[in-house]
Amino acid sequence: MMRLATILCLLSLMSAACASAKPLTYRLPEDKATFKPGPGVDAAQNNCAACHSIDYVNSQPPKRGKAFWDAEVQKMIKVYHAPITDADAATISAYLASTY
Ligand code: HEC
Repeated sequence: MMRLATILCLLSLMSAACASAKPLTYRLPEDKATFKPGPGVDAAQNNCAACHSIDYVNSQPPKRGKAFWDAEVQKMIKVYHAPITDADAATISAYLASTY
């Protein structure tokens, strides 16, 4: 009987602790990344900034080449369902290959 009382007491203490928990609020740093200038930058800006930071592009190792960027753009379309036309995809991978 003593045991049950102890458990009930602990439970009420725990729920009191939960009730006093405040929601955590914090500010993320502002996203200041931009695409490097170059022919085709508009297509990249319009299609590649919707889901994630441009840092995803900027942080890739340099000079990865056309095949890498073609595959990367196709992955965004096929795996993540990015709504990008074939024409834009070609422009973007050419831009990325020549600029990054
Ligand atoms: C529909 C949403 C969406 C769009 C639009 C999009 N991406 Fe992504 N991208 C993702 C997701 C989801 C990931 C994986 C995120 C993770 O793993 O944290 C990702 C990851 C990446 C990465 C990191 C490497 C990798 O393969 O995971 C690069 C580089 C990248 N995207 C480039 C691009 C480029 C270039 C474009 C424009 C052609 C683009 N993204 C458009 C959703 C998108």
